[in-house]
Amino acid sequence: MGKLDGKVAIITGSTSGMGRETAYLFAKEGAKVVITGRNAERAQAVVDKIKADGGEAIYVIADASESTYAQTVFDKTMEAYGTVDVLMNNAGMLSLAQFATITEKEFMDDIYINVTSALMLSQKVAPVMKAKGGGHIINVASIVGWAAHWGFVAYVTSKHAMVGLTKAMANELAPDIHVNGICPGAIKTAMLASVGGEDVFQPMIDRTCLHRLGEGSEIASVALFLATTDSSFVDGQLIRVDGGVDV
Ligand SMILES: NC(=O)c1ccc[n+]([C@@H]2O[C@H](COP(=O)([O-])OP(=O)(O)OC[C@H]3O[C@@H](n4cnc5c(N)ncnc54)[C@H](OP(=O)(O)O)[C@@H]3O)[C@@H](O)[C@H]2O)c1
Repeated sequence: MGKLDGKVAIITGSTSGMGRETAYLFAKEGAKVVITGRNAERAQAVVDKIKADGGEAIYVIADASESTYAQTVFDKTMEAYGTVDVLMNNAGMLSLAQFATITEKEFMDDIYINVTSALMLSQKVAPVMKAKGGGHIINVASIVGWAAHWGFVAYVTSKHAMVGLTKAMANELAPDIHVNGICPGAIKTAMLASVGGEDVFQPMIDRTCLHRLGEGSEIASVALFLATTDSSFVDGQLIRVDGGVDV
């Protein structure tokens, strides 16, 4: 028996990285999983693997920078499965622009994709969860949502906002819907690779107790905890999954 048998879970940004690992784990635990992203080929590959392993999934192509994003993901989920029990707001982008030169558009893109789209999709699913008397929303922030990293001004701002959004949503959606967040440290994904190579990673690794980068599967296992009654007395919390940065 799986921990998510009979549940429907939307995991945004699940065509790669930690979202994809979470999709695989949730499907293994019995959830019907909704994969989202912009890349249809990678989305199809995730669905194919889940189905080959005996699970159930669909994908929805939707760009989180567009105002139609939340409605599209919600409508396709309801059309396919008729309900939703878990939402993981994981889709995100990282602009490398610094304070002195970042443009309004670059700044607003990070904010919209990383935060606004999560709010808009949560607004759609919350009434469904409330009507059925329960649900779990998991927001993916970052350790740069707790303390700034040099550069990445829009990303740092967006992840601080995601921390605030998580607490605000927990307040307004309790007691039916639990809202928690995950603050990943440096996790081996395409996004991390976009920041640089060994010269960038090593200083990050040096700041961790565990002296290594994290794996997407190590975010997925915490997401599973937050998606089930295993976390029944946890609400409005941001869990750092970072190997012990600056401890
Ligand atoms: N890796 C890290 O070290 C780290 C640390 C802290 C926080 N995080 C956060 O973790 C989350 C997942 O990132 P990741 O590291 O797993 O990176 P990733 O492998 O690059 O995955 C990012 C996912 O977000 C989707 N996405 C990006 N822009 C999108 C858009 N405009 N519309 C719809 N989907 C979009 C991508 O799908 P498509 O390409 O198909 O659009 C992809 O599935 C992000 O919120 C990120 O900020 C990552």
